[in-house]
Amino acid sequence: MCGIVGYLGNGNVYDILIKGLHRLEYRGYDSAGIALVNPQGALGIYKTKGKVDNLEAYCVGKDLTAGVGIAHTRWATHGEPSDTNAHPHYSEDGEIAVVHNGTIENYKVLKDALVKHGCKFHSETDTEVLVQLIEYIRLNTGCDLVTAVRKAMKKIVGAYAIAVVRKGDPDTLIAARQSSPLVIGIGDGETFLASDATPFVEYTKEAVYLKDGEVAVIRRGEPLKITNLDNKTAEVDVHTLEMSISELEKGGYPHFILKEIFQQPGTLRDCIRGRVINNGDTIAVSGIIDNKEKFLKARRIVIVACGTSWHAGLIGKYLIQDMCHIPVDVEYASEFRYSNPVLTSDDVVIAISQSGETADTLAAVKIARDMGAFVFGISNAVGSSIPRETDAGCYIHVGPEIGVASTKAFTGQVMVLTLVAMAIAQLRHTLTQEQLSNLGHAILQIPDAVEKVLKLAPMLERLSLTFTYAHNFLYLGRGYSYPVALEGALKLKEISYIHAEGYPAAEMKHGPIALIDQEMPSVIVAPKDHLYEKIVSNVQQVKARGGRILAIVTKGDKTIRNLADHVVEVPPMPECLSPIITSIPLQLLSYYIAVNKGKDVDMPRNLAKSVTVE
Ligand code: G6P
Repeated sequence: MCGIVGYLGNGNVYDILIKGLHRLEYRGYDSAGIALVNPQGALGIYKTKGKVDNLEAYCVGKDLTAGVGIAHTRWATHGEPSDTNAHPHYSEDGEIAVVHNGTIENYKVLKDALVKHGCKFHSETDTEVLVQLIEYIRLNTGCDLVTAVRKAMKKIVGAYAIAVVRKGDPDTLIAARQSSPLVIGIGDGETFLASDATPFVEYTKEAVYLKDGEVAVIRRGEPLKITNLDNKTAEVDVHTLEMSISELEKGGYPHFILKEIFQQPGTLRDCIRGRVINNGDTIAVSGIIDNKEKFLKARRIVIVACGTSWHAGLIGKYLIQDMCHIPVDVEYASEFRYSNPVLTSDDVVIAISQSGETADTLAAVKIARDMGAFVFGISNAVGSSIPRETDAGCYIHVGPEIGVASTKAFTGQVMVLTLVAMAIAQLRHTLTQEQLSNLGHAILQIPDAVEKVLKLAPMLERLSLTFTYAHNFLYLGRGYSYPVALEGALKLKEISYIHAEGYPAAEMKHGPIALIDQEMPSVIVAPKDHLYEKIVSNVQQVKARGGRILAIVTKGDKTIRNLADHVVEVPPMPECLSPIITSIPLQLLSYYIAVNKGKDVDMPRNLAKSVTVE
C-alpha cells in the first residue's frame, strides 16, 4: 500500500530509485513519482499517474543527475489517482519534498490550521499536509529540517513511513516511521531506504528496520544516526538479509503469480524442513515448544487475519479444533479491533499475515497483547512488523511473493497452521502417537503430490477456455473444503474481475441456488472425506437446476464424475491435508481465465499486496 524508496550515494540515483519502484509496485500502482536533488542543489520533481513505466517515459529528456533522491509508487487513499495527487509532495516554497506511505488521520484539522496561516494546497492528499506542516515548523521556529520533522511527527495522528529531501542539500536524506514499514540498507558509501528490502538486496545485505517513533538521518560520509522523537539516540540494530535477487525475478515465467504457483512443491518443502522430523514421527515448531505452558493452558484460540490469510485462518480453525479440541474463533482483523474483544491471559491469539504489515492485523495484535493474551504470529516477510510485535511465531518460509494475489503464501500458511495444530496436539496429547506419525508421514508426501497436481496445468488451461466468458461463478465446499471454495472465488475475483461467490455447499440452498442456471458455473470442491456423501447431494441439487459443474475430486472418483460436466482429479490425502492439494487447481483456473481475458494478473486493478492503511 504505497511503496517508498530513497537513496543517497555515488551510484546512479535515478536508476536505483526506478528499479526499486518496480520492485515495490506490488504495493500500489495508481501513480509514481521521484524527487532528485542534483549535486548543485536543484530539486527536480517528476510524477505521473499510472505505473512506474509511465514515470520512466515521462522522465525521458529530464535532468536526472542527483546525489540523493526519493521515490514513490501509490495506492490511492486520499484523493483520486492523478498527476497532482502523485507523490512526492512539496512545500509551497518548493524547499522540501516528501514521500509517504500511510494515512494521517488528523490531516483535516492540521490542514485547516495551515490554511488559516496562509498555506495553499494543490492536491487532495494527506501527505501534502505533512510536508507543509514540516516546512511551516521549520520556517516559523527557525529549527533545522530534522528537528522540524520530529516536531511535525509529534503532531500527527496516524500511520507513516516518510522520506524527506531538501533543495540545496544533496547530502542528506531523512526518514521516519510510525506503524508503516521502513527499512534502511547500509552499503559501502551509500545508503538506501525502502518499504521493504527488495529495492536494495542486490547492493547490500545489511539492513536496519526502523522502529515506531524513530527518525533516521542519513548524511553523506557519516554513519547512520537514529533518534526518537525527543532526539534521544537509538540503537542501530543491523540485520543480515537472507533474500536473494533471483527470488525477485520471474525466472522464465510470463508472470510472477504463475512462477509462485509452480514454486509450491519447493516452498512447501522449505516450510516443512526441520519441523517434521524423525521421519514424520515428531513435529518441532520452536515457537510452540518454547512457550508450551501458554499452549497447555490455552482455553481458547482466536485467529485474526485479512484476505487470503483469513481463509487460511478458517482452515486453521478446523485443524486446531479437530486435533487439539480447543475452541477457535476466526475473526477479520478489521472487525476484531472494533468489536470490544474479550480476551484473557488464558487465550492465545494467532495473527496470520503474509506481509507482516497489514494495518488491521497489526492493530489486532497490539490490542490482544494489551489485553494480556499470548500472541503468536504466522508471517512470511522476515523482520516485518507482525513478527516483531508478537510474543512468538513461525515463518512460513515461502520466499518473497510478488504477485498481488496470494498463492504460495496461502499454502504455506495452511501448512504452518497444520504443523502448529499438530505441535499443540503433541503437547496436549489430544492425538495418539500413531495419529501424529500417520499425519507426519503424509505431510512429507505433500510436495510430491503438489507436483502431480501442477501437471494438470495444461488441462486447466484448456478448461479455462470453457469458462472465460461466464459473468458469475459459485464456488462450493464443505468442512475443510469450504475455506478452499472461498479462496478459489477470491482468486478469480482478484485477477479476472469475474464475480464469484464462495459458499458452504449446504448453505447454497438458502439463497444462491436461486442464481443457478446454464450461465453460472459452479466449482465444487469435493474430495473424498467424511462429508463426501453430503456434497454429492449438493452436486445433484446443482445438476437438477441445470447448472454447469466443474468438480475437484479425489483420483478415481466415479460418482461425481458421472454428475459433473468436468472433473479435475487430485491425489488422495488425509482430510485435514486436502486444502493444500485442492486449492492448487483453483489457483491455476483463475490464472488461465484471467490471462484469457487479457488482465494484468500480477497487478490487478485497485488492489495492493500490502495493505498498510485501514
Ligand atoms: C491484500 C492482498 C491479499 C492478502 C491480504 C492480507 O488484500 O492483496 O493477497 O491476503 O492483503 O495480507 P497479509 O499480508 O496480511 O496476508
